[in-house]
Amino acid sequence: MRMYDIIEKKQLGNALTEEEINFFVHGFTVGKIPDYQMSALLMAIYFQGMNGVEQAALTKAMVQSGEIIDLSQISGIKVDKHSTGGVGDNVSLIAMPIVASLGVPVAKMSGRGLGHTGGTIDKLESIPGFHVEMTNKQFYDLVNKNKLAIIGQSDKLTPADKKIYSLRDVTATVSSIPLIASSIMSKKIAAGADAIVLDVKTGAGAFMKDYASSKQLAEAMVTIGKQVNKTTVAIISDMSQPLGNAIGNALEVKEAIETLKGIGPKDLTEIVIKVASEMIVLANKTTNIDIAREMVKETLENGKALDMFYLFVQSQGGDAEIIYHPDQLPQAKYTHTIYAEQSGYISELIANEIGVAAMMLGAGRVTKDSVLDLSAGILLHKKVGETVKKDEPLLTLHYNTVSNENLTSIIKKINNSIRISSEKPEMNPLIYEIIR
Ligand code: URA
Repeated sequence: MRMYDIIEKKQLGNALTEEEINFFVHGFTVGKIPDYQMSALLMAIYFQGMNGVEQAALTKAMVQSGEIIDLSQISGIKVDKHSTGGVGDNVSLIAMPIVASLGVPVAKMSGRGLGHTGGTIDKLESIPGFHVEMTNKQFYDLVNKNKLAIIGQSDKLTPADKKIYSLRDVTATVSSIPLIASSIMSKKIAAGADAIVLDVKTGAGAFMKDYASSKQLAEAMVTIGKQVNKTTVAIISDMSQPLGNAIGNALEVKEAIETLKGIGPKDLTEIVIKVASEMIVLANKTTNIDIAREMVKETLENGKALDMFYLFVQSQGGDAEIIYHPDQLPQAKYTHTIYAEQSGYISELIANEIGVAAMMLGAGRVTKDSVLDLSAGILLHKKVGETVKKDEPLLTLHYNTVSNENLTSIIKKINNSIRISSEKPEMNPLIYEIIR
């Protein structure tokens, strides 16, 4: 088999066979296929696409390139949840204890955040003492005992994806849907999930900014799931404005606790209930999504989900008392509130701009090695569709080490990302569609 022929075949728009896909994934991972040939193939895939069978074969080949986590020591159906990334997206922090409190084992492997979207582990590490360092055996034991544990993603998972992603990053091929879908799904499958709930974000703050591509991505991932026998459900949800009111690690933990207490923001609560209900169904706790929804609401109302969060934090070394004393989470030294310059309706809060502003305050990583300021971030006082009066607070910045010059440019960025109109704006749906 020759890489040249595979490139030419894809360039002409033909489907590659499983053998051909295995050949280039393996060959590139072990260094036998040079970057220039792989780049040419990635560009051919970018323009010609891949059918469902090819995408599944690519996913499987990337899974096979590294360690595959065996969760068989944990009893029950392991359902994983993945978000394609958004601003203020702390759904995992809330959905995990909810489903665990209903008896679904949650063995979560998670990465850290980069850029304006945050990582679940970073958020949890804002709880004093919380850590994810443990052996795989300790991790399995903890899930069997408590139903919920989180560990950092092994760097031995899907080395092919890592190498291919680095090349995509410098060859303008990141935005190819078959490549994104197989990249995401390979990591979920290698992490040992039996079934997967995907929260595919759409809008300004999302990886996929327009609805048509978000839907294509969701469909591609669900198809891959079917082909590899991992039931996958994708929820397409809005990310034109930040989710909930908090952006930033400790601020999002506090908001997650409020949501577990039943006093969280409406949009966040709604997405959490939807994600958790789908997870309950995939875990076979019920086949009826309406019953699942009632189960989720009940565990929120009776405090069992909050108790599970307490147990989870305590078992991973964290100070679980922050649940009752959230003021003991890291607090920023300085705050700066931005007020409305006119009365009207909030018609836009551009999610990615606000996310980047939060990152500039220290809440996100600019590069892989950046040190996070866990207390930094932004609290929104108004969301799209709400009315505001002149001089009412719109949002508050929380920060420690930002220079006056940087603060001025952050404030400018935020002012450019908020629109107030005299007309009530048309609202995007919070949940667009569920792809099964
Ligand atoms: N996230 C991933 O894991 N892979 C991609 O290709 C894009 C986003």
